[in-house]
Amino acid sequence: MKLRISILLLILSLVLMSLDKVSKNTVTFEYPKDWPKPTYTFKNNPLTEEGIMLGRKLFYDPKLSKDGMISCASCHLSFTSFTHVDHKLSHGVKDRIGRRNTGALINLAWQKDFMWDGSINHLDFQPLAPLTSEVEMGGNLDNIQKYLSSDDTYKSLFFNAFGDSIANTPNMLKAFSQFMLQFNSFNSKYDKVKRGEMSFSESEIKGYQLFQTHCNSCHTEPLFTNNQFMNNGLTVDTTLQDMGRIKVTGLKSDSLKFKVPTLRNIEVTYPYMHDGRFKNLPMVLLHYSQEKHQTFNIAKELKEPIVMTEGEKRSLIHFLKTLTDKEFLYNQDLSFPRN
Ligand code: HEC
Ligand code: HEC
Repeated sequence: MKLRISILLLILSLVLMSLDKVSKNTVTFEYPKDWPKPTYTFKNNPLTEEGIMLGRKLFYDPKLSKDGMISCASCHLSFTSFTHVDHKLSHGVKDRIGRRNTGALINLAWQKDFMWDGSINHLDFQPLAPLTSEVEMGGNLDNIQKYLSSDDTYKSLFFNAFGDSIANTPNMLKAFSQFMLQFNSFNSKYDKVKRGEMSFSESEIKGYQLFQTHCNSCHTEPLFTNNQFMNNGLTVDTTLQDMGRIKVTGLKSDSLKFKVPTLRNIEVTYPYMHDGRFKNLPMVLLHYSQEKHQTFNIAKELKEPIVMTEGEKRSLIHFLKTLTDKEFLYNQDLSFPRN
């Protein structure tokens, strides 16, 4: 009797496994051959068309927020590289103002630490913060789960993606990640020049050389970040009193350190820095070429002002603009879902 039940169970699980395979369309994660390996463990959350489709619907759904007005996309717009353009600090439910500027969401599979201070260390956990934060979406996981599990479209999307129509939080988080792992940018002019498909102008070449001399040690190619936390010599904003990484580690040596952000698509992600203090790129270069706020742990490369002529600054900006990837910014597969 026992044996018969186990055989039955075995057959049942084999049938379920094969159903599982039939119903899902796996997606391979593609990236340029000469890039480092991504750090995200796809093994634990294999990409499927169904999972990505669900993640996309969730990302654009304001009903996940307390007042039904704010979705992830309210602060992360696809055509500005998923930043909250023109806002120094992000605005959430009831127009409450957050403490930080929204950074770009790009090439997240290569990132180990999230947020400006690295307070989150796995992409799958990232959505929990905005979903439940009082100044962002102000939601509550139980209510979100109830809403998703009672909506017919979501029920079938969850079933197609994970073989379970109940919208549990782990599967919801996996779907968010699957969609965000599509935010990959490697088709800028810079990338095309690297692949031999285009060439830089004279000014861009000059800018690239300046970049390699002064910026590349932190904003390191090809991702344009070294994924470290550094102090780049900004003064502390006296109202926000944001001390950065120290809040997470408690180490004095981490005071005023922030994550080195990628510079990909930097032309469209203004304003700049963790608090959006600089409106445009000339202001950023003015900061780097001036005496900086000297604290004990200011990065050694930035202790002295970086001396550049106005012409050199223009060339450097010309180069930075070659990092704009229009194919990514206007990718229809990443924008508001039409169905
Ligand atoms: C009210 C505006 C707002 C909303 C809504 C919002 N975010 Fe964010 N997001 C931010 C801000 C601001 C940061 C940077 C916060 C920090 O560093 O402290 C951020 C950071 C992130 C990051 C980390 C980026 C990095 O490079 O470290 C990810 C990923 C992200 N958000 C995804 C989401 C998802 C998914 C949602 C929806 C569930 C969402 N966000 C909703 C404003 C928002
Ligand atoms: C020692 C490391 C280091 C060097 C060298 C460096 N940066 Fe940065 N950069 C940072 C850090 C850290 C931040 C984030 C600081 C913050 O917001 O508090 C940053 C932020 C930026 C930003 C804002 C990005 C955004 O999304 O808001 C730009 C633009 C920028 N840097 C450009 C440059 C350029 C151009 C150079 C060379 C002239 C340069 N950086 C050199 C560490 C560095």
